[in-house]
Amino acid sequence: MKQESMINIKNLKRYYKSGQVITKALNGVSFEIKQGEFIAIMGASGSGKTTMLRILGLLDKPTKGDYTINNLDIVNLPEEERNYYRLTQLGYVFQDYALINEMSAIENIYILSLMEGKSKVQSIITAQAALDKVGLSDKSERIPDQLSGGEKQRIAVARAIAKHPKILFADEPCANLDTHNSEQILEVFKTLNKKFGQTIVMVTHESWHTKYVSRIIKLKDGKIVSDVKV
Ligand SMILES: Nc1ncnc2c1ncn2[C@@H]1O[C@H](COP(=O)(O)OP(=O)(O)OP(=O)(O)O)[C@@H](O)[C@H]1O
Ligand SMILES: [Mg+2]
Repeated sequence: MKQESMINIKNLKRYYKSGQVITKALNGVSFEIKQGEFIAIMGASGSGKTTMLRILGLLDKPTKGDYTINNLDIVNLPEEERNYYRLTQLGYVFQDYALINEMSAIENIYILSLMEGKSKVQSIITAQAALDKVGLSDKSERIPDQLSGGEKQRIAVARAIAKHPKILFADEPCANLDTHNSEQILEVFKTLNKKFGQTIVMVTHESWHTKYVSRIIKLKDGKIVSDVKV
């Protein structure tokens, strides 16, 4: 039986206008993503990778085109529902970790769950499980300043996966890390994908990262120039 696609993107366009100049950051992109894929989005600087990730992650809207997740017309949802969907169903990891310095690792992870109205006990249990998945259970009480860059990023990954997101989005998650720490992050992603079936869409510049993924989509000038399973 054919596995149904989770994400369907059709003829997606994103134009930026500044003064008289229009930049076609995405210029007609179509593809499908199935549950359980681990996708690398690659391409030269300015090719549209971040633009695409931001639209897929509901952090931005396309100028034109269709985008559905599990047949839900995600682009045209009312603003409030879009925000709710983004907060509860999607996970994000960025280059700069975006951790709160005054809070311990575990507090950084469970704060969102508390804000959603879950009980503190439940929030802590969920956060501990996420910390365990990234191999940092022993550092749950450290504040970000007491962690290495790689550890900070693993905390950010734990925060992103604590809510069991449908899709985990990562925009150059290893950009500020050395090779050793990059490998650790990529190993965590690979385990999340293989063991827990986590769907992952990751933007990267580094071709050696592609040995961890199941599919590579290459962009050039806002268009897909290759899309291969590996
Ligand atoms: N807010 C914006 N306003 C105007 N133009 C933008 C804006 N954001 C991005 N662009 C332009 O859109 C194009 C795609 O940018 P994008 O950030 O998606 O590239 P990228 O592939 O992520 O590059 P990098 O590898 O450098 O991160 C570029 O030409 C960029 O200058
Ligand atoms: Mg980018």
